[in-house]
Amino acid sequence: MTFPNRFLGRNGPAVSAIGLGCMGMSDFYGPSVRTDALQTIDRALEAGITLLDTGDFYGMGDNEMLLAEALQGTGKNKRDRAFIQVKFGAQRGPDGAFLGTDARPAAVKTALAYSLKRLKTDYVDLYMTGLDPTVPIEETIGAMADLVEQGYVRHIGISNLDAAIIRRAHATHPITALQYEYSVISRDMEAEILPLCRELGIGITAYGVLGRGLLTGSTGAGETDWRSKILPRFQGENLEANRKLVAVLQDFARQEGLSPAQAAIAWVASQGEDIIPLVGARTLARLEEAIASPLKLPAGILARMEKALPTDQVQGSRLMSLRR
Ligand SMILES: NC(=O)c1ccc[n+]([C@@H]2O[C@H](COP(=O)([O-])OP(=O)(O)OC[C@H]3O[C@@H](n4cnc5c(N)ncnc54)[C@H](OP(=O)(O)O)[C@@H]3O)[C@@H](O)[C@H]2O)c1
Repeated sequence: MTFPNRFLGRNGPAVSAIGLGCMGMSDFYGPSVRTDALQTIDRALEAGITLLDTGDFYGMGDNEMLLAEALQGTGKNKRDRAFIQVKFGAQRGPDGAFLGTDARPAAVKTALAYSLKRLKTDYVDLYMTGLDPTVPIEETIGAMADLVEQGYVRHIGISNLDAAIIRRAHATHPITALQYEYSVISRDMEAEILPLCRELGIGITAYGVLGRGLLTGSTGAGETDWRSKILPRFQGENLEANRKLVAVLQDFARQEGLSPAQAAIAWVASQGEDIIPLVGARTLARLEEAIASPLKLPAGILARMEKALPTDQVQGSRLMSLRR
């Protein structure tokens, strides 16, 4: 089956117009069922959703092994159908604790070597770094550029960087995509980052399109769900206030004949052909809803949605706070 494509960045590759965010299948959002996750990835590929987003630190390698099983498991050879986007750099202990970031050149190459083994592949389509404040971005991107030249990486991406660093990264080697949180309730990217990416021809893979589940009723509670532990929007009075947004979105979506998730996905997808919403679906039902989302809503509907969900009504920072 085919799914509409978009180009990732001005000169970048064609990928599916929405991507599958695989993180929650291994980590952070409470228990996940492996067979559901595998079926979801299978179905995404069958439906033409090629962009699969992972990170080497999602489940400390587990998420990459899951992808390998979905793509290269017994009797399967689906590697060529997928566009695998891998983030690296976050350091984690055996208990899962975040220990910092390592994006020194040797660490970049070591991380990629291990990712290739876990993914059972010999190349990554898009390799993506966050910021290691102890390493000039030029050194990190320079090491990634070596990997491009050697054929292990096809495109370079960056995640959650500020404007000045984005410019420096792009001056070192063309950056294909920036990953950044973007949704109707998280719009800070619009001030500086999005215009800069458009100027430089960098595509966006947007995460948190459903507000990390906040917009669709997840409370982030539960022992293995990190949201209530590290995301201020999922905590205490903030959560209580933010829960009101769920009903607002439900009402709005119902009037438009959409589900709340579809309205949230469609809002992001409507912001530009250079933006690819990632959807954190981990079951077939969630994925099918995303597949059926419109990718372009009329301006009047978008404006009504923004009015119904003003960003200043959202309580708490979208950024994680690792202090416990
Ligand atoms: N670069 C970064 O810093 C960064 C940060 C976060 C995420 N990411 C990437 O972006 C991807 C997507 O982000 P995300 O998972 O945080 O955000 P998300 O898609 O905004 O939220 C995922 C949540 O939405 C729920 N959901 C998914 N589909 C739904 C549907 N059709 N109806 C109702 N609820 C639905 C999920 O429910 P269930 O819990 O029921 O499954 C889950 O709780 C991740 O998988 C990861 O690959 C990157």
